[in-house]
Amino acid sequence: ALCVSASEDFDWTKNDRGSFFYSTFPTGFSWGAGSSAYQTEGAWDKDGKGMSIWDAFSHQKGKIFLNDTADHSCEGYYKFKEDIALMKDMKFNHYRFSISWPRILPNGIKNDYINEKGIKYYDDMINTLLDNNITPIVTLYHWDLPQVLEEKHGGWQNVSMVNYFNDFANLCFERFGNRVKHWITFNNPWSSAVEGYETGEHAPGLKLRGTGAYKAAHHMIKAHAKVWHTYDTQWRSRQRGMVGISLSADWGEPVDVTNQKDIEAAERYVQFYLGWFATPIFNGDYPQVMKDYIGRKSAQQGLGTSRLPVFSTQEKSYIKGTCDFLGIGHFTTRYVTQKNYPPGRGNSYFTDRDLAELVDPRWPDPGSEWLYSVPWGFRRMLNFVRTQYGNPVIYVTENGVSEKMRGCTDLCDDWRMQYFKDYINEMLKAVKDGVNVKGYTAWSLLDKFEWDEGFSERFGLYYVDFRDKNKPRYPKASVQYYKRIISSNGFPN
Ligand code: NOJ
Repeated sequence: ALCVSASEDFDWTKNDRGSFFYSTFPTGFSWGAGSSAYQTEGAWDKDGKGMSIWDAFSHQKGKIFLNDTADHSCEGYYKFKEDIALMKDMKFNHYRFSISWPRILPNGIKNDYINEKGIKYYDDMINTLLDNNITPIVTLYHWDLPQVLEEKHGGWQNVSMVNYFNDFANLCFERFGNRVKHWITFNNPWSSAVEGYETGEHAPGLKLRGTGAYKAAHHMIKAHAKVWHTYDTQWRSRQRGMVGISLSADWGEPVDVTNQKDIEAAERYVQFYLGWFATPIFNGDYPQVMKDYIGRKSAQQGLGTSRLPVFSTQEKSYIKGTCDFLGIGHFTTRYVTQKNYPPGRGNSYFTDRDLAELVDPRWPDPGSEWLYSVPWGFRRMLNFVRTQYGNPVIYVTENGVSEKMRGCTDLCDDWRMQYFKDYINEMLKAVKDGVNVKGYTAWSLLDKFEWDEGFSERFGLYYVDFRDKNKPRYPKASVQYYKRIISSNGFPN
């Protein structure tokens, strides 16, 4: 097995001659790993932090696998210095983390009060990273909306979130922007919108079928644009940073590439996913195929207007071009084929897309329930972004693989090494294709709370023993491997 692997002289590439591409990344290519506040920090009610929708949701019985919560998780709030030492040892160029909105604004609203202890935590984190020559890449919204904003104001169903979020972002620019130069407004708004407001698997757990996700997404896109403009007009000239968004971008490939219906279904898969957010931000409006499909289904359901909200002409031009870099979160690929739902039935985001997803039984199954290793899908996705959105600067903000239940207690994650090797190699090919990728963020530094899967799904380069209250970290074999890729900046011949 590959796991002899941790040894220095193992030939990592011997199974891949032929399709494997030996070369290095451009000088200055940035390597790192990521995390998010709710998934790793713990300290959910410490030092004045307010409650987020994830605290409230995970505290309800029956929402999370084994009723786990991230009340403690990795205790990153107390152990960040130790974690930064791990990053330094791996020679990271950057670290991606998120700021918990309710840790800084316990009541969600800036004019209410600012929790200076929360600010201090992020100040220390940023300063320690910079002292170690690691660039912070900071996400403003990784799903942990202050609970009061959900309860009293309807959360992302309400357009008032746009201003609340903008105030929070503005505060972050004011306090941290002299040191943070890479800002991500939203992380994976697709998941927040669909799983939070359509399927209810994620906080706040609402099942507003057929409308909830579209409305939430509409407000998130507006909020993103507003924050970008705030930075652009008030901070950019002084702080000289970049503001982007991080989108979930798994690839959809037609089952039969000679079948027009399959080709169109795969197109819908990508447009109802990445395109939903990227098209307004880069090209000014929702993808035509979303407008057509949702409009037609809404009419069949006897509704007077489309369930997909509409941007005014003014809003379109305000939103278009609000992205200094695109963050890409990519994990896997699906085969896609067309599926006919009877008209009028199935009032939901999923039936609107009118497609079926398949997986190839030959794809390696790394032991995750949903995540198959299909490296070539990564290169296709990156090239799709290049051609559709005018070749923007890209940072890969998430890419990695989980083990489900397996636990990986022997720390021998050969499937993860293989996954990184194959995916990073496809990314290298994409760079040679002309895709403007500037950095790569392995997901994730540590095992951590995996949302509704609780602690059963582990993504970490480092194993965390959650049963021990000190939450010790142990390197999996892939740490050594990733280190090697970083130190050689790719795969030199
Ligand atoms: C995307 C989310 O942004 C992240 O928080 C999560 O851990 C990964 N997907 C894996 O599911």
